[in-house]
Amino acid sequence: MSKVGIIGGSGLYDIEGFTLKKRRKVSTPFGSPSGQYLAGEIGNTEVFFLPRHGKSHNIPPHKINYRANIWGFKKLGVDRIISISAVGGIKKGLKPGDIVISDQVLDMTKNRPSTFYDGKEGVVHIDFTEPYCPELRSVILKAGKKSRIALKNRGTYVSVEGPRLESSAEIKSFSILGGDMVGMTGMPEVALARELEICYAGLSVVANYAAGISKRKLTVAEVMEAMKDTTDNIKLLLQTTFSLIPDDRSCECKDALKEARI
Ligand code: HPA
Repeated sequence: MSKVGIIGGSGLYDIEGFTLKKRRKVSTPFGSPSGQYLAGEIGNTEVFFLPRHGKSHNIPPHKINYRANIWGFKKLGVDRIISISAVGGIKKGLKPGDIVISDQVLDMTKNRPSTFYDGKEGVVHIDFTEPYCPELRSVILKAGKKSRIALKNRGTYVSVEGPRLESSAEIKSFSILGGDMVGMTGMPEVALARELEICYAGLSVVANYAAGISKRKLTVAEVMEAMKDTTDNIKLLLQTTFSLIPDDRSCECKDALKEARI
């Protein structure tokens, strides 16, 4: 049976309607995760859900214990993670409500512990050419077709430090660099998952036009509103994805450490 972790972003603090009844408190060598993991079985899949910002949204992006969160999933036996995050749309044509299955990342974070390998466990350099699991991405895209939910099949996620939003010059520069959407939590999550040989896919939900793309001031209320509007689609997409996930993994994520150690 496949074990899948779900990380809920802004506006997604539980997955109501899913039968995740058990609460699992997990301790890690890196401290405490964002909260308890909600666990349960959905069809043939064992699912563990963690709200990234805490269940009452009290942890800002730069204070999230990303290492504890990912370590906790590993400890629970999870080998695939689907992460949901709110983003600002940079690329022309992206609009609030769109869901992008990210395929690349640009790391603009400044001040976060971003590895499990600080030297004590040896020196490790994981391959990151393709940061997101191609197999899991393709299962989600198939689930989108099956459940008739429109998905953008690729996009470069720019991860910023936050918690402030960006200046319009920053967004312009990200656009020139090839960024399609901007958020505050994508990194180091995706890299940490790879370091533990966990497959990871990111659903980026466009909550607003990024700074300077819309001439209006950005508000948290519009971000939350857009996230609330997509919740039902996200739940349906996840449910369909669970039914399509193969038991065994045939991607390279499971061997990420094989040729990565000095
Ligand atoms: N910038 C950064 N993070 C975000 C945004 C944004 O515009 N919208 C939602 N998360």
